Amino acid sequence: MPTVFEMTRPEQEALFEETKKQYEELKRLGLKLDMSRGKPGLDQLALSDEMLNMYIDPSETKVDGVEARNYGELMGLPACRRLFADLLGVRYEQVFIGGSASLELMYNVIAKAHTHGLLHSPEKWAKLDHVKFICPAPGYDRHFTICETFGMEMITVPLLDDGPDMDMVEELVKDPCVKGMWCVPKYSNPDGVIYSGEVISRIANLKPAAPDFLLMWDNAYCVHEFDGPFLPFVNILDACEKAGNPDMVFEFASTSKITFPGAGVSCFCCSEANMAYMKKLWNAQIISYDKLNQLRHVKFFGSAAGVHEHMKKHAAVLKPKFDIVLDTLESEIAPLGIADWHKPKGGYFVSLNTMEGCAKRVHALCKEAGVVMTGAGATFPYKCDPKDRNLRIAPSFPPCEELAQAMQVLCIAIKLAALEKVLG
Ligand SMILES: Cc1ncc(COP(=O)(O)O)c(C=O)c1O
Repeated sequence: MPTVFEMTRPEQEALFEETKKQYEELKRLGLKLDMSRGKPGLDQLALSDEMLNMYIDPSETKVDGVEARNYGELMGLPACRRLFADLLGVRYEQVFIGGSASLELMYNVIAKAHTHGLLHSPEKWAKLDHVKFICPAPGYDRHFTICETFGMEMITVPLLDDGPDMDMVEELVKDPCVKGMWCVPKYSNPDGVIYSGEVISRIANLKPAAPDFLLMWDNAYCVHEFDGPFLPFVNILDACEKAGNPDMVFEFASTSKITFPGAGVSCFCCSEANMAYMKKLWNAQIISYDKLNQLRHVKFFGSAAGVHEHMKKHAAVLKPKFDIVLDTLESEIAPLGIADWHKPKGGYFVSLNTMEGCAKRVHALCKEAGVVMTGAGATFPYKCDPKDRNLRIAPSFPPCEELAQAMQVLCIAIKLAALEKVLG
């Protein structure tokens, strides 16, 4: 089959007419499908339902001398800190357990940089005229929202197949106004990129002009393989320490996509010096997070190995869904040469690049036919995708039949938008 660009004009016109007819037929079905947010499906939530009815005997609530029902132990239940330390390969002393959302911890760290400054800040960021933050893109929209909330200038850096464009990053950090960078090092949202060892080493060895440069290492998908074995990841705290930058990094993780996004456990990890500094500031806002939920998680998993076992159950649910997305794109779109996409083995998304100038149109066509997708541009700072190409597909939430239908709509929309463009 010729690609759209190899077709004669009459062939392109014929395909356009045929696709338009298919689109109108789909529209008549009155679909209501959602491929927008990366939420676990109901079948995934059910994998942790044992926690709903978990009985904790009063004799068990005191662990390592800490009473989980009472106030106290700001940094979290020691057993839960050990669990995350094992999972992330960091030291126990470097782990702080939060509430159900790692996003809140990320927000908090940046908020504290503004209100109080970080450990090595000459001045709190709120006093500065100009704070810039490096945002590899495509990236996670909520990271960008945090930057916007605090009025930081976002600098877009291309996310390449092995991580952020480090030549650009190394230049940018020479500017003292550049105060930090977002990183999702494993199965990035949405591209599913895994940073290479070389990129991670270059990041750890950065020599930023700002003494309080903040590496926001969001390891949201650290154990989230759905295809193939678990891939070990670099301990970034260790790497930064070895590079002489021990206080540059904060790492984040959570069980949102392991147990329940609505009732999980999150953590941040940082150097002991950063921890001592942060602990003092955090102490002003909360006495302790939900230690009973921490205890439930410890009981549910037993160990880091228990988490890995549990993730295999998620993989069994997710793999068929990603297969539907990837197989449909492969059969419907690949032969036409009008889009490309990443083929991740973990994480929560498939990142699709349409022909230039088509993503918004594809999104609108999908919406008109009853399929909700994440907004075009959402994966870029200021919602501005310079080439209007990127769309994020989130396969996890809809059941397989709905997903298959939504993918049909998406593929027809990709074809229509491309042919409209080609035919002018
Ligand atoms: C990269 C990334 N970080 C963080 C989150 C949210 O994590 P949490 O539920 O722990 O706040 C998400 C959710 O989609 C994500 O994709």
